[in-house]
Amino acid sequence: MTNDHPRHLAQTPPLGWNSWNAFSCKVTEADIRAAADALVDTGLREAGYEYVVVDDCWMAGETDSAGRLKPSADFPNGMAALADYVHDRGLKFGLYSSAGSHTCQGYPASLDREELHAEQFAEWGVDYLKYDNCGDHRGRDAVDRYAAMGDALAGIDREIVYSICEWGENRPWEWGRNVGGHLWRATDDLVAKWRADPDEFGLGVADVLDRMAELDVAAAHGPGGWNDPDMLQIGNGPASGQSEHEPVHVQRPLTKAERRSHFAFWCLLAAPLMIGADLTSLSAFDRDLLTNERLLAIDQDPLGMQGTPDRRDDDEEVWSKRLQEGAAVLFHNRSDDAREISTHAADTDVPAGSDRYRVQDCWTGNEWETDGSLTMTVKPRESAVVHVTPR
Ligand code: GAL
Repeated sequence: MTNDHPRHLAQTPPLGWNSWNAFSCKVTEADIRAAADALVDTGLREAGYEYVVVDDCWMAGETDSAGRLKPSADFPNGMAALADYVHDRGLKFGLYSSAGSHTCQGYPASLDREELHAEQFAEWGVDYLKYDNCGDHRGRDAVDRYAAMGDALAGIDREIVYSICEWGENRPWEWGRNVGGHLWRATDDLVAKWRADPDEFGLGVADVLDRMAELDVAAAHGPGGWNDPDMLQIGNGPASGQSEHEPVHVQRPLTKAERRSHFAFWCLLAAPLMIGADLTSLSAFDRDLLTNERLLAIDQDPLGMQGTPDRRDDDEEVWSKRLQEGAAVLFHNRSDDAREISTHAADTDVPAGSDRYRVQDCWTGNEWETDGSLTMTVKPRESAVVHVTPR
């Protein structure tokens, strides 16, 4: 197993954009260039979103005779030119492959050709690899298959963030770091729904949160290695300004309250934040949400703690996350009516030993002081988030 993989990468959760949630298998080179331009024009790059990742379907149906991956006809200028385009905009470039014979959409992938493909990625100027779990595994277990790519990446002369996407099936939080991974999916695919229909593909936002609450994975999480609850669905769906593309994973738009909660929870989890929307039609609401500085500071806090639930019941939830200074506390209303949700600093991850605290509302910026009791009025499906600092 690899030991010399670049450990200094991903000291905070990676931020960027990925083609899958909005473009699925219809992605083209033009879409990627437009996304890179839009990251700059919308101010998202300035806010910290730096990776531009091409997901599944960028490759041609056949490899070359040596087994190298070839870009499809939808990427006519090739991957090195596309990487240059992205780099010229001050951004980093990512590609996708799979730890099997084929990708999830049936394109050639990297099992047993890890070194060959890692060399290609390095030559092209790739900075980030999302590595999926589809195709024939040829009887090999997940740790073995993911270690093979980790070793190949450690052997090339380029630093590449290694994003393990095996959907949490084999407890990757227990071995992801050891195989050189910088992040690993903890859960199944997130669709643009609050709750998914159990008979349909994927999980809704609330389903992922239930799963993250029951999985006891926060200990594995921190600088250089992150639990990944999947990419953001903010900005997807007709009401939020979706393009004419028909992504397979978009079921219906999340409401504004649901989108705010989605973002607030992902920041509280210190999740990798990969925007999954068509940035050329992003609404002002979604752009403002994705660039909320107070929330992003919680996500990117240098301690790298994952927020965990303090209490959850049918109507309300309180979660908290220790920060370098104080803690963030999230109050979520699961019910259909507005509620006053209360907790006390002592029942959260706020550092103990004080009887005066400064509180700041992360949505409004309003500040006040408290002896430790915290009460927020929260609308249905909304989440209040406060930053609490001992005085
Ligand atoms: C899934 C993965 C998605 C997306 C898709 C592409 O396995 O979880 O995020 O990459 O494959 O086919």
